[in-house]
Amino acid sequence: MSYAIVGFGKIGQALAHAFARNNINVTVASRRPPEALAPQARAVGPTVVAKSLRDALEADTIILAIPFGEHREVAKALPSWKGKTVIDAMNSFPLPPEELDGLPSSTFIAKSFTGAKVVKGFNHLGAATLASDPVVEGGHRVIFLLSDDEDAIAPVADLAKRLGFAPVTLGKLNEGGLLVHAWGRFWGPLIFQDLFKKQQ
Ligand SMILES: NC(=O)c1ccc[n+]([C@@H]2O[C@H](COP(=O)([O-])OP(=O)(O)OC[C@H]3O[C@@H](n4cnc5c(N)ncnc54)[C@H](OP(=O)(O)O)[C@@H]3O)[C@@H](O)[C@H]2O)c1
Repeated sequence: MSYAIVGFGKIGQALAHAFARNNINVTVASRRPPEALAPQARAVGPTVVAKSLRDALEADTIILAIPFGEHREVAKALPSWKGKTVIDAMNSFPLPPEELDGLPSSTFIAKSFTGAKVVKGFNHLGAATLASDPVVEGGHRVIFLLSDDEDAIAPVADLAKRLGFAPVTLGKLNEGGLLVHAWGRFWGPLIFQDLFKKQQ
């Protein structure tokens, strides 16, 4: 399994620290050329290597750590996403919820990554917490994972464990997944909205 993180800002670097801490190879990319990212990547650890976006997208598993509004730009970089797993670590804020066609944000982005297996995860912790060692007082910090593709969750759960997290699967994007989708500045209301609709 090969891994890439697209976006090397607060969340991208936080995740890169987790890969480095556990000696797992990962490539990192952004709009900037790899030479611009390389010093920061090297500072995180020897297993973190900066590449061009095009080269980073050769990985099997790609973590999106970019502003939500940029997802289409990244999606356009590959003619097909078949065979790829995309881990959506983004939150849709500041995009107004009305612009998501009433969909959970990961279902919304999945439309652009045609053929990919989309798994939502690593999106609910602040960057500083995500960057810190997830083994805390003998326990493991929880990561929630959800996907409409049942086969896609196990390898991502395995990665989360290797990174030191305790993965908790919440099912499909429009089921338990609604608990961990931001809706504007808020968390969780999508699930209540759905329940409310069912009661009407
Ligand atoms: N910050 C948090 O605590 C937090 C917590 C949970 C989830 N999130 C989510 O994580 C995502 C990233 O947030 P962040 O705080 O890490 O943002 P950030 O610090 O602004 O970093 C964004 C990164 O994305 C890159 N980028 C932007 N457009 C790109 C494109 N078209 N192609 C490739 N790379 C691109 C930027 O680099 P270049 O300018 O070099 O391209 C930068 O490295 C957001 O969706 C956010 O909602 C953030």
